[in-house]
Amino acid sequence: MQTKVTIVGSGNVGATAAHWIAAKELADVVLVDIIEGVPQGKGLDLLQAMPIEKRDAHTVGTQDYAQTANSDIVVITAGVPRKPGMSRDDLLNINYKIMSDVVGKVVQYSPNCILIIVSNPLDAMAQTAYKLSKFPRERVIGMAGILDSARFRAFIAMELNVSVENINAFVLGGHGDTMVPLPRYSTVAGIPVTELIPKEKLDKIVQRTRDGGAEIVKYLKTGSAYYAPSAAVAEMVEAIFRDKKKILPCAAYLQGEYGVNGCFVGVPVKLGAKGIEQIIEIKLTPEEQAAFNKSAASVKELCAVINV
Ligand SMILES: NC(=O)c1ccc[n+]([C@@H]2O[C@H](COP(=O)([O-])OP(=O)(O)OC[C@H]3O[C@@H](n4cnc5c(N)ncnc54)[C@H](O)[C@@H]3O)[C@@H](O)[C@H]2O)c1
Repeated sequence: MQTKVTIVGSGNVGATAAHWIAAKELADVVLVDIIEGVPQGKGLDLLQAMPIEKRDAHTVGTQDYAQTANSDIVVITAGVPRKPGMSRDDLLNINYKIMSDVVGKVVQYSPNCILIIVSNPLDAMAQTAYKLSKFPRERVIGMAGILDSARFRAFIAMELNVSVENINAFVLGGHGDTMVPLPRYSTVAGIPVTELIPKEKLDKIVQRTRDGGAEIVKYLKTGSAYYAPSAAVAEMVEAIFRDKKKILPCAAYLQGEYGVNGCFVGVPVKLGAKGIEQIIEIKLTPEEQAAFNKSAASVKELCAVINV
């Protein structure tokens, strides 16, 4: 295969993303981790699944960044996940150190790659990667909105007992307690969800979406969600490699869009071969804009702490 994806951090999200990417035959995958043996073992195990799955994706694990050279996409999941009772923001300082270390090495070997950032707190980590890599903003994308809106879609499908395929939903804003689910732009087979679910029920679904990550952390106790987050990464990788021009909610560096300047926030973007090919601006109601501004302000606050 000619396309190459490096995934830094071979824990739950990283290894499962490798699984989806190889299973969809999107690219050869290089797994990296600081723990000796873990990426090697997972890379080899996944490689041995390929004859069964009849997929020609080569997967390998390493500690050596030289093996990541000339990757088309680098996904960064390195870092520490939440434990029960922790917020994503509690991870700021430790993951900032990890992100700074990783980005320098990634950029050295793959100066033309597209970066997909996953580590939390997501928007601040994407901003760290953007500032340290000095890449154009088109090539630094944060994964969060696809996951948050997938949670919203799953809950709507459960409530109405219909196929998840019928549901389109949008979540904007930062990946955190200030995310902004938009029921107004969420539809079931084209029908606005606001016409199918009474407001009180919808409000509860919105709140469950906001708390979607914490709900899973509470169940797992020793880590956070990874199947849905890694599937979201694979959707972004596919949109880029297949130049789909797919509109997806992602964290992007805003330069005046939505009235926000100089920070990463979740917005609808067009993903294609060049990365973020367009930021789609939609009209927000005054309440939605206020919630969006609050979200952007909390990202800026975090970025100020780590000075990015
Ligand atoms: N953006 C999102 O929506 C979203 C969703 C889920 C998880 N996350 C975040 O993604 C990150 C990873 O989550 P996980 O569940 O895979 O955690 P995990 O603990 O299972 O895996 C993280 C891996 O990173 C590795 N690592 C740490 N420092 C490293 C370094 N300097 N270089 C290379 N590898 C390093 C660790 O050894 C570990 O294997 C966490 O920060 C988590 O909060 C984000």
